[in-house]
Amino acid sequence: MIDLRGVIKSYKQGDVTTQALRGVDAHIPKQSFLIVLGPSGSGKSTLLNLMGALDLPTEGTVSVNDAIISEMGSKTRSQFRRKHVGFVFQDYNVLNTLSVKENIELGQYLSKRPMSIDEALRAVGLSGYETRYPYELSGGERQRLSIARAIVKRPDILFCDEPTGSLDETLAKDVLSVIQSLNETYGTTVILITHNEALRHIGSHVMRLKSGHIDSFTKNHEPKSIKDITF
Ligand SMILES: Nc1ncnc2c1ncn2[C@@H]1O[C@H](COP(=O)(O)OP(=O)(O)OP(=O)(O)O)[C@@H](O)[C@H]1O
Ligand SMILES: [Mg+2]
Repeated sequence: MIDLRGVIKSYKQGDVTTQALRGVDAHIPKQSFLIVLGPSGSGKSTLLNLMGALDLPTEGTVSVNDAIISEMGSKTRSQFRRKHVGFVFQDYNVLNTLSVKENIELGQYLSKRPMSIDEALRAVGLSGYETRYPYELSGGERQRLSIARAIVKRPDILFCDEPTGSLDETLAKDVLSVIQSLNETYGTTVILITHNEALRHIGSHVMRLKSGHIDSFTKNHEPKSIKDITF
């Protein structure tokens, strides 16, 4: 489903060039649950931004389901994102002035076959919370709301960049269980970046980045359930 060929990404700031990705090749199969690990600065977020059509590589090709997203202009990429992908970031991308229901409605916007608000709420365990505001939720509930917003359009791929980085273990497990069950129930391909080594056990595949290279890319033959791992 996701193909990366000779992907190089450099950032230029004045005279300084940083090579964030130095030649990445990989194939991520449909319905995978990919865990991406690697030290700070190794290129994880850069890679996620390229696979999610948020940014373009300096060289190489990125394709998703045979659509070459690295050759799309910004308008086409934005249509591609609306149609095919959802994002969840560390600092919950929810809007505080909108209720739970209104936040999820934002995610339905322009989708051809969105889930109902009720189904999205049920999927993340927030049924009955429609009229609450984000400040009336716990950190874990807020993160589950941002997942509901990302999945209500039924994306093919859910990209998560340290989604549990600001949560304690119990809340992090709640959020990860929701993500794992989306992968199982809807077959959503999930790409999840984390610093937490323990999470290597829950993915179907594990990618390790090191200084802009893939250090290893392995398949887990028996992924564990979230409730069976300790952080
Ligand atoms: N917009 C940018 N402009 C310039 N350099 C950047 C930019 N974004 C990232 N970089 C550099 O590219 C390299 C890879 O950054 P990236 O954000 O992909 O790392 P990461 O693996 O996600 O790290 P972390 O775990 O700290 O989030 C780093 O050296 C970073 O400083
Ligand atoms: Mg990062």
